[in-house]
Amino acid sequence: MDRFLIEGGRPLNGEVRISGAKNAALPLLAATLLASTPVTLRNVPDLKDVSTLIKLIRGMGVTITRDGDTVTVDTSTLNSQFAPYELVKTMRASILVLGPLLARYHDAKVSLPGGCAIGSRPVDLHLKAMTALGAEVTVENGYVHASVGGRLKGSRIQFELVTVGGTQNALTAAVLAEGTTIIDNAAREPEVTDLAHMLVKMGARIEGIGSDTLTVHGVEQLQGCEYPVIADRIETGSYLAAAAMTGGKIRTTHTDPSLLEAVLQKFEEMGAVVTTGPDWIELDMQGKRPRAVNFRTLPHPAFPTDMQAQLMAVNTIAEGTGTIIETIFENRYMHVPELSRMGAHIQVDGHTAIVSGVEQLQAAPVMATDLRASMSLVLAALAAKGQTCIDRIYHIDRGYERIEAKLTQLGASIQRVAG
Ligand code: EPZ
Repeated sequence: MDRFLIEGGRPLNGEVRISGAKNAALPLLAATLLASTPVTLRNVPDLKDVSTLIKLIRGMGVTITRDGDTVTVDTSTLNSQFAPYELVKTMRASILVLGPLLARYHDAKVSLPGGCAIGSRPVDLHLKAMTALGAEVTVENGYVHASVGGRLKGSRIQFELVTVGGTQNALTAAVLAEGTTIIDNAAREPEVTDLAHMLVKMGARIEGIGSDTLTVHGVEQLQGCEYPVIADRIETGSYLAAAAMTGGKIRTTHTDPSLLEAVLQKFEEMGAVVTTGPDWIELDMQGKRPRAVNFRTLPHPAFPTDMQAQLMAVNTIAEGTGTIIETIFENRYMHVPELSRMGAHIQVDGHTAIVSGVEQLQAAPVMATDLRASMSLVLAALAAKGQTCIDRIYHIDRGYERIEAKLTQLGASIQRVAG
């Protein structure tokens, strides 16, 4: 398993180009299954999760070509609506093919994703949404089998809690349903909005995009289109955190400040100077130590759970004490024991973590447990004294494109060691 060796203590400075968002690219790729003619996606990041989903869709007979950051999907050769356990178990977002397959081909068999490092993460709400649209859904031998005799029927879907993937599956199912569907308590994450915009470009009729009530008037057919994936707001926030962590100054480009207002506000509270333009964000820590901040993770537009670990890392070296409350996932503090090995002072009680900043973290051998937890360890290592070895970095390759190259360009000493 590959490891990172990071020599800490250098302020990071410079410019970094942000990639397309993993969490937008995955639902967009799944939604290409709805189109009768080829779809071309641009700004698709080259990440493990993206290639897993491409493999899964290719396994259904679909023709997919990739040229740099452009991916073209032609569904005319599709010959199966089956998503096997072997692939789904490696990536939960595979469940996103359920809505499109059911809507267009009226039948789908998709493996149930298992639990994962950040919690049990059930898909019950996805299945309820499919049932509300008239599908017969059974779960047997670890597989979801959903089918409908003819088109799905428009209906009212009321999500009891905000679910990003559930909203995406409901949306991609409802667009080809007969009649109107109203999705209440819909997720408003930018990656849901991005999906809705692409569906509209394909010919779907959706009202309320960006709000928590989506009204979908079903159409009979959707066409292919060309569509660019939005910038990765979490990758953006992670590089800005690297500047905050090391007292440096980093400009992220090809991004969008409107996607991460709650995060930028926290960086300002930390004492960073944040400046923005239409497609860039710069964070200047001016060599200062950050001030600790309190925050609570909540659905968009509030503070995102996918930035919790990274801001916790900054809090570990901040002046003062910061209280963090994780409300989205039940077990998203796996990075705490690893950060503690590096000298961080963190106390966890249920969903609350209290972080008392220390002046200096120390290098230590640590282990990555999930994607964002891994990034928090990279951040800690960038600020720590000595050489940190981070094991199991395959987690980070799922969501951060060319991370060593990008960090090296910013002045970090980071090396990948194969093992
Ligand atoms: C998406 O996961 C993201 N993944 C996650 O990013 C992100 O953390 C999460 O949204 C929250 O913003 C992708 O977009 C591919 P949810 P998703 O359904 O859709 C519970 C990362 O690091 N729930 O909004 O799976 C669930 O257990 C990843 O890039 C049910 O109970 O998240 C969780 O507690 C990790 N039943 C909460 O809802 C359901 O049927 C929110 O989950 C569905 C969800």
